[in-house]
Amino acid sequence: MTKKGRVFSGARPTGRQHLGNYLGAIRNYVALQADYDCVYCVVDLHALTTMETTRDLKNNTYEMALDWLAAGIDPQESIVFIQSQVRQINELFLIFSMVSPLGKLTDLPTFKEKVRQAPHNVNLGLVGYPVLMAADIALYKADLVPVGIDQAPHIEYTRETVRSFNYRYSTNVLVEPGMKVTEIPKVLGTDGQQKMSKSLNNHIELALTAEETQKVVMTMVTDPQRARRTDPGNPDVCNVFSLHKVFSSPEEVDTINTECRNAGIGCVDCKKLFARNLNAHLAPFREKRSALAEKPDYIWDVLHDGAQRAGTIAEQTMQEVRAAVGLPE
Ligand code: TRP
Repeated sequence: MTKKGRVFSGARPTGRQHLGNYLGAIRNYVALQADYDCVYCVVDLHALTTMETTRDLKNNTYEMALDWLAAGIDPQESIVFIQSQVRQINELFLIFSMVSPLGKLTDLPTFKEKVRQAPHNVNLGLVGYPVLMAADIALYKADLVPVGIDQAPHIEYTRETVRSFNYRYSTNVLVEPGMKVTEIPKVLGTDGQQKMSKSLNNHIELALTAEETQKVVMTMVTDPQRARRTDPGNPDVCNVFSLHKVFSSPEEVDTINTECRNAGIGCVDCKKLFARNLNAHLAPFREKRSALAEKPDYIWDVLHDGAQRAGTIAEQTMQEVRAAVGLPE
């Protein structure tokens, strides 16, 4: 079957994935395979921009790739690889840096946020983060990039970079990508306040056992106004309810919506039901994950094979890029 075009997306190697990663990225990666030629990349070079130590890098790469495959990213169908293993990325990054206005890079909200978080570690690589991302996307001539809404400025930056490159070198070899914003752009953590993230330790890891999952779910913060079981609750401000909408049946969601508002159901029972439905949803994932975890060599083979296939595309693009720039063959 002919596909609609090429999808590219990347994620920093953060190790075992959580519900936020699943709803915000992985689930969409899996679904897009039906209609697109997909290239999914573990962006380890991007991770270096903020990392103090690389001690866990390899293991985090492995664990994330394992979760991706267990969730249904099919290495026969799609390319899964590690960014640093396709060396052409470094070359395109350098060439892109010549069409990258510094002021624009330092104005990006994502850059300002990183500076705020770590003012002592503002390195050239960090400023160039969006340039490297533009190089990722352009190297594989992606038509579509599925990302969370927080990445919108980077996609816009990529489009501008591609235009600048094509304009400066009077060419059309590089492709301006479209952006596909994921449906659930923001998944809150167990605190019900902040975006789910490993560093905030408010996450629900996919690879937990059913019992462990239930335990974490029971710690989730619900409607803060509902202090007592007999108080009526407001599902509209409850993070557990918003996740019910994803993992529970429409009938269950309806019932909870009504019964929470009239104090017919308490938060404990509501969370137990959520844990049960979440566990049912993740059961096939967990089974596949355990099976895959028994053959770690297979995961590395998939990643190496992916790097080879990605490398072929990358070298083709770079030959066109070098010719457009006027670099010797
Ligand atoms: N910047 C992205 C993030 O933090 C990761 C990323 C790197 C990416 N290169 C990419 C995403 C290319 C999409 C396409 O989430």
